[in-house]
Amino acid sequence: MTEERVFREGLEGVVAAQTHLSHVDGLKGELLIAGYPVEELAQHAGYEEVAYLLWHGALPDESQLSDFRRRLATRRALPEATLELIRIAAERKVAPMDALRMAAGTLDLDGQPDPREQAADVVARFPTIVAAYARLRSGRQPLQPDPELGHAANYLYMLHGAAPSPAQTRALESYLNTVVDHGLNASTFTARIIISTDSDIVSAIVGAIGALKGPRHGGAPGPALDMVFEIGEPQNAEPYLRAKLQRGERLMGFGHRVYKVRDPRAEVLSAAAARLYEQNEQIDGDQTLYELARHVEEQAVRLLAEFKPGRNLQTNVEFYTALLLHGLGLSTDLFSPTFAIGRAPGWIAHCFEQQRHGRLIRPTSEYVGERGRQWIALERR
Ligand code: COA
Repeated sequence: MTEERVFREGLEGVVAAQTHLSHVDGLKGELLIAGYPVEELAQHAGYEEVAYLLWHGALPDESQLSDFRRRLATRRALPEATLELIRIAAERKVAPMDALRMAAGTLDLDGQPDPREQAADVVARFPTIVAAYARLRSGRQPLQPDPELGHAANYLYMLHGAAPSPAQTRALESYLNTVVDHGLNASTFTARIIISTDSDIVSAIVGAIGALKGPRHGGAPGPALDMVFEIGEPQNAEPYLRAKLQRGERLMGFGHRVYKVRDPRAEVLSAAAARLYEQNEQIDGDQTLYELARHVEEQAVRLLAEFKPGRNLQTNVEFYTALLLHGLGLSTDLFSPTFAIGRAPGWIAHCFEQQRHGRLIRPTSEYVGERGRQWIALERR
């Protein structure tokens, strides 16, 4: 009997792992993180609580949480070699996501062999890398992390030089918690593949950053906001979007491989962005921008249904990410690295899971090339 082999373009619908970490129901528009609805975690949990939940399978109690927080907070400072590389990257003006990828690759320079220690270093240091890079490229010196601040608040402090308000910290934590894990997305799959070869955490994370960077995955929020800025006024939205679709271009922030209804993360983030802007707690932008974005969303969803009937193209996580992170004073090219800061605990949790249960990930391919060719000597070709 021959084994059935079915090729599925993009591996769509193929189950390639079992996980306890997150569940995505694309038809119901539901996302569970380790059993909790994303809406609950986004609203209530701190970043460290969610990272702990994913790494240990349960929420921490008070003493576990304070130990975990301290463990991360004491590891935030960067090794000199990492900082040196970031300085060179800033001088050469490489994109921040590339700077994060390069710098992440130096995080095992001290030869730390324990995967749990490597994991803590990665998570603790990502915000320091991104903030140091952002400051250096604009001619400012990086700030030392503040161990008294939580992970999210310290990131905003290292970027802007002032401790954020509780509302700003809450907004960032809502964002980071919302994107922490999302089934077998491309970057998580990349990390699992790398670790399945018995490679190390840092290598898996570097590969995951490379996968996240692309505009079909984590690279969309910058262009999504640029689009809202280009539209500028509500009355321009319809003609602008129509022209884009007529040219066959994709609207950034819309469509998803799995969700065929509105991405639940878009719901959570649009509420978080609304709170930030309504409380006038935003560092950048104003309420008009929020209202313009809502109008652009409405028009985009309507026009996508007209141009791509039956495709169910709805708002995805990136659209409101852009608005929220802009409100927190981040430039558009810091959106993807900030996504990586949020997703890093999820990547690592998948690596741990893969190490515990997984076999080497090694699918097969279907050969569709020629056969029976005869060798032709170089001088006769
Ligand atoms: N704007 C316009 N058309 C879109 C679209 C978008 N945002 N997303 C998908 N489509 C169209 C495709 O052009 C294709 O049309 P066709 O069949 O007429 O050629 C159809 O919908 C299906 O697209 P496909 O690329 O097969 O879907 P996918 O499941 O592989 O893609 C994304 C999912 C996310 C890559 C895709 O929706 C996209 O590129 N979105 C914009 C980028 C983005 O927001 N990325 C962040 C994802 S969280």
